[in-house]
Amino acid sequence: MKSRILISNRYGQSDVLSIIEEELPSLAAGHARIEVRAAGINPIDARRMTGEIRFGPLPLRFGTEFAGLITELPADAGQWAIGDEVLGSGGGFTHATIIDVPVGNLIRRPSTIDWAVAGCLAGTSQTAMAVLDELGDIGSLLVHGGAGGVGTVLVQLAREKGIEVVATDSGANHDYLRTLGATPVAYGPGLAERIGTVHPAPFDAAIILAGTEEATHASLATVKPDGDIASTTGIPAPSERVRATGHKPSPANLQYVVDRVADGRIRWEVSETYPFTRAAEGFGAVLQGHTRGKRVLIF
Ligand SMILES: NC(=O)c1ccc[n+]([C@@H]2O[C@H](COP(=O)([O-])OP(=O)(O)OC[C@H]3O[C@@H](n4cnc5c(N)ncnc54)[C@H](OP(=O)(O)O)[C@@H]3O)[C@@H](O)[C@H]2O)c1
Repeated sequence: MKSRILISNRYGQSDVLSIIEEELPSLAAGHARIEVRAAGINPIDARRMTGEIRFGPLPLRFGTEFAGLITELPADAGQWAIGDEVLGSGGGFTHATIIDVPVGNLIRRPSTIDWAVAGCLAGTSQTAMAVLDELGDIGSLLVHGGAGGVGTVLVQLAREKGIEVVATDSGANHDYLRTLGATPVAYGPGLAERIGTVHPAPFDAAIILAGTEEATHASLATVKPDGDIASTTGIPAPSERVRATGHKPSPANLQYVVDRVADGRIRWEVSETYPFTRAAEGFGAVLQGHTRGKRVLIF
């Protein structure tokens, strides 16, 4: 079985991307073969492309999440059957027409979730759930970068738990943040003062989804002295109080979010879709850092 796979032979901007055709090896034990319908583009993909984040040998392959149809299964695949519509985290890569995925990663695609949304649920859902679990029992949360992929789901999950949320954006996403349930504040000079105006009491915690020094300083100024300040960005912060956090694989956490997207309790935003052959456009846009919700490749 041949797959068309997005690769890059070197680090750089999105013009380093190309699509190759490759014969897949026979299906490994414990894996399902999937015909991909949609796959989200995450900052990790774009940051690996540039070489800012480096793991895995060149040529790079991309993508961490997918939605598609099962085309091949091992004999002991349990509940799954050929033709089932599924979503989840990938194995090695997902930006390809055919991929092999550990059976344990599969979640059934609810009929109320369209392909584009289904293809971009896994990464940010599991990240947001892990972050909230770690933050524990809090009453107020400051979110730097609330309108992006992680922020969109994190804000809503926090609100569902009754947590008060103030979230930052450029100003262009204020109405969007309000629909998610957050009080919006524009980032930029004077950020801590603006946050203090809308939320005078110190926050129990802050989560940094946009890795600026400003986000760290504003958090230090507005979070309780013993409050938690965490960052998913992987960018070193100018304070030891900022701890690193991020994605933790958990199909159960993904299912929790999928159930809520399926019945409309959680709003999911796909700001733009790209045919697979135009993946470079999508990567370029993600790299700009101003995605509202998610950008998704369509196959
Ligand atoms: N996606 C994942 O599954 C995942 C998993 C683990 C870690 N991470 C990391 O977590 C971070 C956030 O990921 P993401 O997927 O949410 O990113 P994203 O979707 O690319 O975030 C885009 C959002 O960031 C906002 N933003 C840009 N500059 C900002 C600033 N200076 N202050 C506050 N907000 C700002 C933008 O709002 P405006 O357009 O209004 O500026 C936009 O809505 C990234 O560093 C990523 O690598 C992501």
